[in-house]
Amino acid sequence: MNAVRYRIEVMHGANLDQLGRRDPRLYGTLTLPELQEEIERDARAHGLAVRFFQTNYEGAFIEHLHSLRGDADAILLNPGAWSHYAWAIRDALEIAGLPALEIHLSDVEHREQWRRVSVVRDLCFATISGRGPDGYRDALAALREELDRVSG
Ligand code: DQA
Repeated sequence: MNAVRYRIEVMHGANLDQLGRRDPRLYGTLTLPELQEEIERDARAHGLAVRFFQTNYEGAFIEHLHSLRGDADAILLNPGAWSHYAWAIRDALEIAGLPALEIHLSDVEHREQWRRVSVVRDLCFATISGRGPDGYRDALAALREELDRVSG
């Protein structure tokens, strides 16, 4: 097993605690705890330690971003619908000042028009969408690569 090199904060926003009840054609059938178990397993293989956070409250999401300084090396975030309009979350992500990767289970580029907008995208070194839970595995690999790159 790889030694842990980096700490990743995995943040899920509004309604993602309802995975398993949401449309399985868009979001798959895993519950959030099941998805988190997969993420944890894949993270270990990449030498990453993960910590999880989910909330349905925008202010709590913002305050969690504020609290990350010194506690995480990078952020993997799926803000749910907030991705498309929550400018205060964008500002908080900027304040966090950590490498970030935006992820969506569904293919937000090919759904309703309003989902094509992301207010966090340009603060993230990559965006992954439409790959379902497998996207998280790709995201962890990309995070490991990016952290190795920026830490020289
Ligand atoms: C989502 C896509 C968002 O548009 C939606 O509001 C979500 C989940 C996804 O993971 O596909 O809640 O972020």
